[in-house]
Amino acid sequence: MELDEAMRTQHACRYYRDDPVPDEVLYRATELARFAPNGGNRCAVRFVFVRDARLRSQLGEWYLPLWEEVAAAARAGAAPLAAAGGQLKSTRTGFRDPARTMADTDNFARRFGQHPVIIVVCADLAETHPTDTELGRLSIVGGASVYPMAQNLCLALRAQGVATTFTTLLVAREPDVKELLGIPEHVSTACHIVAGYPARPFPRHLHRPEATQLAFADYYGNHLAGP
Ligand SMILES: Cc1cc2nc3c(=O)[nH]c(=O)nc-3n(C[C@H](O)[C@H](O)[C@H](O)COP(=O)(O)O)c2cc1C
Repeated sequence: MELDEAMRTQHACRYYRDDPVPDEVLYRATELARFAPNGGNRCAVRFVFVRDARLRSQLGEWYLPLWEEVAAAARAGAAPLAAAGGQLKSTRTGFRDPARTMADTDNFARRFGQHPVIIVVCADLAETHPTDTELGRLSIVGGASVYPMAQNLCLALRAQGVATTFTTLLVAREPDVKELLGIPEHVSTACHIVAGYPARPFPRHLHRPEATQLAFADYYGNHLAGP
């Protein structure tokens, strides 16, 4: 598969077939994901591929109420939710068809523990080097040593016909997830990626802002000319 096509069609898949994803496929994806850039090449990331039905079911039980809270806020058009430290959590969505996507996402959440694989992306944060901790705002840089590898993994799975959904809601239950899966004290959870063979064809077009809205030349707001 061409890289362009994988990047254009690697969506958040909401419906999966029940077939398991072979370990060779998961291994092959990891084999490619590991080439992601990361600070100091310290490779802080580890993946736990959860295939065991009992473990997935427990993760699904924890996931659903977290989704229900954020879904209720999104449906009500609520203001951003307050979080510790004055940080706000946005509830805005940018879906093309909000009612349909919310229904699909709700279905996905109710079946969270039954999707074929839940990939827990783990990171040793002591192996990151966040350069933005003194700026008086939420630190973002540490994640830059983690999420490129997670995205690489999704692309490498997509290239093998496996769909994924990147999720972060369950990170709120990190202590429970760590205990369940035997994740060491010094390791954190960064996201949970659902993976499996899609029940519906991969989309041909994902809804995103046009490149002209995203790309500036030299100065912020000075739009880069398109072709
Ligand atoms: C940082 C991040 C957090 C996300 N968290 C969740 C989540 O907790 N639950 C969920 O169902 N989808 C989650 N998503 C998936 C997004 O909703 C999805 O990527 C977005 O709506 C685009 O979907 P599309 O590629 O199908 O157009 C998350 C995606 C990202 C990148």
